[in-house]
Amino acid sequence: MKSLSPLFFLVVLTYNALPALAENQALSLDKREVLVLTPIQRNHVLGEMQALLSGVQHILGALAEDDMEAVAASARPLGRSMASKAEDHLSAVLPRRFLQLGMDVHYDFDNLARLAESGADGKAVLGELSRLMRKCQACHAHYQIYPLKSSAIEEKRLDHRH
Ligand code: HEC
Repeated sequence: MKSLSPLFFLVVLTYNALPALAENQALSLDKREVLVLTPIQRNHVLGEMQALLSGVQHILGALAEDDMEAVAASARPLGRSMASKAEDHLSAVLPRRFLQLGMDVHYDFDNLARLAESGADGKAVLGELSRLMRKCQACHAHYQIYPLKSSAIEEKRLDHRH
């Protein structure tokens, strides 16, 4: 076989190694604890995050209208009922502290719903929401998700569906 030129190897090496180098650099700049998740697991966590953000947005809107029923209605789905749906299959892979913080936030949303229903005024509910959101901050300051490009197990599962 004709031997390949050194330039060929240089091009192939650079092409394959650059994305990995870029990822490593991003990782080393970000000092937060890494959670290595498969694409499906990451999707699940981020989906829950989006629901938390839009829930908080709804709660703020309802507070601005002094509509305590709507505050409770937006807070309740972010409570423990949300946790039991999502965290079952993730509890094996996520660290205990992460799960605990997540659970605390769900409890806090249940309490927020109760507070809104109890006839508390908007200021009191806002104060609780602000306290609750320190836990969002604490978790974000501590963890980052590192997505695996793919997972052999997940790919197999998806294959079986076809
Ligand atoms: C138990 C830990 C934890 C708690 C509590 C938490 N988050 Fe997150 N959140 C994360 C992690 C980890 C990420 C991914 C961060 C990364 O990889 O850079 C994330 C990402 C997000 C994102 C980005 C989603 C996306 O699609 O990229 C939003 C929005 C978000 N969180 C909102 C919230 C809000 C609002 C709260 C509180 C009501 C909250 N989170 C509480 C851990 C948490």
